Amino acid sequence: MSDLPVFPEGFVFGAATASYQIEGAVTEDGRGPSIWDTYSHTPGRTDGGDTGDVACDHYHRYPEDVALLRELGVDSYRFSIAWPRIQPIGEGPVNHKGLDFYSRLVDELLEAGIEPAATIYHWDLPQALEDRGGWRVRGTAERFGEYAAIVAEHLGDRVPRWITLNEPWCSAFLGYSVGRHAPGAREGRGALAAAHHLLVGHGLAMKALRAAGVREAGITLNLDRNVPATDSAADRAAALRADTQHNLVWTEPLLAGRYPASEEDTWGELITGQDFRRDGDLALIGQPLDFLGINYYRPIMVTDAPHREPDPAARVATDNRYAEVGYPDVRRTAMNWPVVPASFTDLLTDLKAVYGDALPPIHITENGSAEHDVVAADGAVHDTDRVTYLHDHLAALRAAMDKGVDVRGYYVWSLLDNFEWALGYAKRFGIVRVDYTTQERTPKDSYRWYQKVIAAHRSAS
Ligand code: FCB
Repeated sequence: MSDLPVFPEGFVFGAATASYQIEGAVTEDGRGPSIWDTYSHTPGRTDGGDTGDVACDHYHRYPEDVALLRELGVDSYRFSIAWPRIQPIGEGPVNHKGLDFYSRLVDELLEAGIEPAATIYHWDLPQALEDRGGWRVRGTAERFGEYAAIVAEHLGDRVPRWITLNEPWCSAFLGYSVGRHAPGAREGRGALAAAHHLLVGHGLAMKALRAAGVREAGITLNLDRNVPATDSAADRAAALRADTQHNLVWTEPLLAGRYPASEEDTWGELITGQDFRRDGDLALIGQPLDFLGINYYRPIMVTDAPHREPDPAARVATDNRYAEVGYPDVRRTAMNWPVVPASFTDLLTDLKAVYGDALPPIHITENGSAEHDVVAADGAVHDTDRVTYLHDHLAALRAAMDKGVDVRGYYVWSLLDNFEWALGYAKRFGIVRVDYTTQERTPKDSYRWYQKVIAAHRSAS
């Protein structure tokens, strides 16, 4: 698969992970509990009762993992910082032992010639803050700004690329509406308040990153392409409501300084009756970004549908009169996600068409696939489906760049098999296999393939 088009000189090839999914060591060196410890330890919440207690034991094995990154040849490694390691109850003095872990990791990366890219929040909210309302309350956004200032001050000189939040859609809507992510709530207004406070927290973190003088700061969104099942006016309106909930709720305030025009049709009185927005919030949220991080996995096909809950008072925030329908005639990954690489191109070119020059340069901060990996007799994992997925999505990305979208980097999700949230360890996204009994790491064929892509890119540029 060496037929990939050439990427421009300086294009960043990377790999990504997140703290709770790989670190383990959840009670070590003063780390406090996070909402994911609570959630995963609550019976019935995660598949098989899996938790992140041990995960990939990366907290102890990070030198081995950095060696894997070095051998892979990536320019950059995206990891996340666990807030409860830095401030065990989400506020107050720094827990230096927790901070030292990230300091050691960053030094190890720099010694290996790899640029660190740090995500400040990849979902592990200190439980103590959830106990006081979590993202439903503005105080959490303010505490987040303080925490961001701590990590920016201590690591900002060595970490060039910073991401405030990872996928606030998941934090707000999977966490407080669908209930499939921590803290597992099913609410209407609470989820919309969470979405807003996440954006406020992002704005406060941007200020902290600017004050620390970091090289690049941005946010990562999981933009979903919501495709209407038919061309009917009803399905197109349904797709716009899905788009509002998934994308516009973030991109409009971040890139256009306004709330989505379609929000009333999407949320009705849940949004018209809101009391969480304040004067000045849009200016805070809409500070210029050095880059927009996008995580992309799959498109969603939607059709018009009635509310699932007829009583508005009992309705959750993701009940927006649309239903997902199956994507016809395409391969599906082990997540049951449809594989449609061309939709990746369209997502990016559509964004450019809508936001024009207001769209900052883009980093694809995650892309990858969970597959039904099989360990062959020789111990290898011949994950040809994953290789094809990555190849076709890189080609689709390059096509968007040809059409004028300014993309600066691509991070594969994920370096390692890891704790896939509510789905536990059964779903494997890694380009390196992890045997959870022995913690042995085995590079899959996709790792070798990606290594060649990066090497070919280096020699061409
Ligand atoms: C994204 C998350 C990441 C991982 C992938 C598969 O939504 O950011 O942590 O779980 O999906």
